[in-house]
Amino acid sequence: MDNDVNGIQDVVSDTVFGVITNVLVAVSTLVVMFVLDWRLTLGALALMPLVLIPARRVGRATYHARRRTQEKLAEMTAYMQEVLGVSGILLVKAFTKERAERQRFQGMSEALRRLDVRQAMIGRWFSMMSMTLMTLGPALLLLLGGYLVITGRTTVGTVVSVVTILASRLAGAAGSLGSTHVDITGSLALFQRIFQYLDLPADVADRPGAVELRALTGAVSFRDVTFTYAGAMRPALESVSFDVEAGQLVALVGPSGAGKTTATYLLARFYDPQDGAVIADRTDIRDVTLESLSGHMGIVFQDRFLFHASVRDNLLYAKPDASQAEIEAAAEAACLHDFVGSLSRGYDTVVGERGHRLSGGEKQRMAIARVILRDPRIVILDEATSNLDTVSEQLIQAALRRLFIGRTSFVIAHRLSTVVAADVILVLDRGRVVDRGSHDELLSRGGLYRTLYDKQFRKDAATKQADEVVAVP
Ligand SMILES: Nc1ncnc2c1ncn2[C@@H]1O[C@H](COP(=O)(O)OP(=O)(O)OP(=O)(O)O)[C@@H](O)[C@H]1O
Ligand SMILES: [Mg+2]
Repeated sequence: MDNDVNGIQDVVSDTVFGVITNVLVAVSTLVVMFVLDWRLTLGALALMPLVLIPARRVGRATYHARRRTQEKLAEMTAYMQEVLGVSGILLVKAFTKERAERQRFQGMSEALRRLDVRQAMIGRWFSMMSMTLMTLGPALLLLLGGYLVITGRTTVGTVVSVVTILASRLAGAAGSLGSTHVDITGSLALFQRIFQYLDLPADVADRPGAVELRALTGAVSFRDVTFTYAGAMRPALESVSFDVEAGQLVALVGPSGAGKTTATYLLARFYDPQDGAVIADRTDIRDVTLESLSGHMGIVFQDRFLFHASVRDNLLYAKPDASQAEIEAAAEAACLHDFVGSLSRGYDTVVGERGHRLSGGEKQRMAIARVILRDPRIVILDEATSNLDTVSEQLIQAALRRLFIGRTSFVIAHRLSTVVAADVILVLDRGRVVDRGSHDELLSRGGLYRTLYDKQFRKDAATKQADEVVAVP
């Protein structure tokens, strides 16, 4: 988008005035020429197609060339952002791909150079043709004028003024209009790319007449929710129904690909279900405005994204008008305040792109502090699978306990402590809720939960015991 908008900026500002001036010049010159000698004027007009026909062809060629150039440019920009980003660089180093990446980049810039040169050459062809015409045109007109003088139909003075002054001015204006045509046709390629993007329908948009969701207690229901991702073969969620009371802690468990993340996305209304409804406090969330809905939601993603900004600014993202006291209270609640105090510049320390200067546990606590500052009614948390050391783990658990108090919380659980503390555990498998209940109920019932527990959570319990053994001096 950025490249495309830059590309058409000049065309828009330069051509408008160019077109007006040139049209005025051409029209007034033609009028004077007609008054002086209509035969010479017709002769000059007969030569015009020689400028205009190439302009059409060159315009079309420029259009295609610019389209390809912009595509290549977009590809290269995306490539640079991805590979030169923090995660990209780490991956490049980890797989020692420096040489390969350099080659790939070289290939791309080579292709871009070729396209750019080609595009410039097309323009050259056009100006060469109009230059030729500017030399050839007067010669032909003089021939016609000479004939008219010899046969006594006009005077030498008229021929000279029409051919040398007026006709060349007309040719100049026509030539400019021709190259403007080339520029505009070429930039249509960019306009088309921009509009293609602007015309994309939004996945989720406010309904006409959507109301503001003011207060929310936090009760949530899924009613027969079925959802399939665009282009997916099978539904990610199928007839999912459950009710959660305000303030409850809900743990979502299930094997990979079961639809846990998808369920939280539907609750946050990143997508709308094809069938069924998601209800918050007896209101279908499609009937309220997106902005008011998201004001009541706090989300801690699995991939805890932080901006390349200070600790303070990252926290303020959740609530731009928060005071320093509020920020510190949130950091305190998320067990982050002491850590921030140990940083060289405290809350003004810059965390690095995506927060890469912080450890996994610190990032997680930042994300929790951010949500605490927002103070939402509904919390969605995708617990990280990474195994943290006992101290980090305890800090995070303390932070989480404070986060969950008084809020309806949906947690994609990877920790034993979370499932044990949960009011309801929903067991998902292949898009369906296959079981629900408390930890003890589900465990005694056997089934999928038991299997998951054996595979995933029990080793949690084992490590914890082991840690405790080590911790004893
Ligand atoms: N954007 C997407 N487009 C198409 N299919 C998707 C998309 N996101 C997820 N899926 C598919 O939907 C299904 C459910 O995915 P989901 O991310 O909800 O699983 P999950 O339970 O969160 O798994 P995990 O524990 O591995 O995170 C999977 O089969 C997945 O391949
Ligand atoms: Mg997931």
